Amino acid sequence: MTASDTPLTPDSRLSLVSPVVRVNRERLWANLMQLKEIGAYDDASTGLRGVRRLALTDEDAEARRLVVWWMREAGLRVRVDRIGNVYAERAGTDPSLPCVLMGSHIDTVATGGAFDGTLGVLGGIEVMRALDEAGIRTRRPIEIGFFTEEEGVRFGTDMLGSAVTAGRLTLEYAHNRTDPDGATVRDELVRIGFDGDTPEIRPIPRAYIECHIEQGPLLATAGVDIGIVTGVQAISWQRLTIDGAAAHAGTTPIEARHDAGLAAAEVVVEIRRMCDSGQFGQLRGTVGNLVLQPSQTNVIPSEAVLTVDLRNPNDDLMTAAEKHLAKFVDDLQQRYGLNATWEQMAKTAMVPFHGSIQDVIAASAEGLGLPYVKAMSGAGHDAQEIAATCPTAMVFVAGEYGGISHTPREYSRPDACGNGIDVLANAILILAEPVHTGPTA
Ligand code: GLV
Ligand code: MN
Ligand code: MN
Repeated sequence: MTASDTPLTPDSRLSLVSPVVRVNRERLWANLMQLKEIGAYDDASTGLRGVRRLALTDEDAEARRLVVWWMREAGLRVRVDRIGNVYAERAGTDPSLPCVLMGSHIDTVATGGAFDGTLGVLGGIEVMRALDEAGIRTRRPIEIGFFTEEEGVRFGTDMLGSAVTAGRLTLEYAHNRTDPDGATVRDELVRIGFDGDTPEIRPIPRAYIECHIEQGPLLATAGVDIGIVTGVQAISWQRLTIDGAAAHAGTTPIEARHDAGLAAAEVVVEIRRMCDSGQFGQLRGTVGNLVLQPSQTNVIPSEAVLTVDLRNPNDDLMTAAEKHLAKFVDDLQQRYGLNATWEQMAKTAMVPFHGSIQDVIAASAEGLGLPYVKAMSGAGHDAQEIAATCPTAMVFVAGEYGGISHTPREYSRPDACGNGIDVLANAILILAEPVHTGPTA
């Protein structure tokens, strides 16, 4: 290990150089628009065309093949690991040095848009092309990766591929996750041909930067295109199953009911009350999925299964919120004669990003003359997993319509996307150490 390979510490300061590269934003936009056609659907609630590309489905497979084709066309060396994460490498002049890594994901939620995850992946490929076209070589290799099942919508655990890479989840655990029809991650990787053979614990990169749309209103409110992300708030996903008793809706006295639907409704309202109370800091809570059985007009629900998504920038207040909710559900069981069971689907602590990488991103934005704000991420990202392995931070790009995301209305302007990827490109270049700049002969 050379002196320049010693891990960055929060105090270290990297040498900052002026930006020298700008990406081709028309080509980036064309790629984003082409990819969004894979899994496109007509969304009845918005009247817009959305994207439904759940992890390891046929649509995801088609998108993976297109992105791999773009990677190879850009002259990159592609490899697939055992959890289906895909990496593409641009060689450095010193192959012994750890690479600088970019990345994100190309799976979407069932009601997604064109930018969530894909901006960071297609933008990363665009960075590689821009470096080639500018005749720039770097000492360090540069890699771009996309990670399996970031959204967690199909197999129930978000950031699945990057969590395996970071060693937080085992390959076996990830392979054995099932979708609602019982298909496993392992079988689906084989089925779509992305069961790679390179180790899922990858060589430790020098640094990781992920560019992603903000998915919230902070940048738009500040009137800037660029955010430098200070960290990702804690996330807790749980599945709550409430068992009661089915009975006749017309004849069963109110006080004799064991109504699982009523209890579920009280949970939904209590979560909102907890968020409004201020008692749990900046808690955000959502019940996004609620299914009642036997689901008939004139039958009291015997079962309710609901998901609980809690987010909090403060780990202690997250724990307090989880305990409060568990006690609330205990009390409901007693009051209505029910039986409730919890299953933790996913849980991550608050992850602070690395100060030096944030400084590099700031230097890149300043060199480009782009104003920025610093912000904590409300959404989960692969970067929060990779941060456990190497110095990491993120670039945010502003969205329109209040930054709305996870709906087809998600939209970022072409120039905002171009600005974000320019910031990414020059930050990556600083970290990868350019050895030659200027046009090729
Ligand atoms: C990922 O999109 C999340 O749920 O934050
Ligand atoms: Mn995302
Ligand atoms: Mn998402």
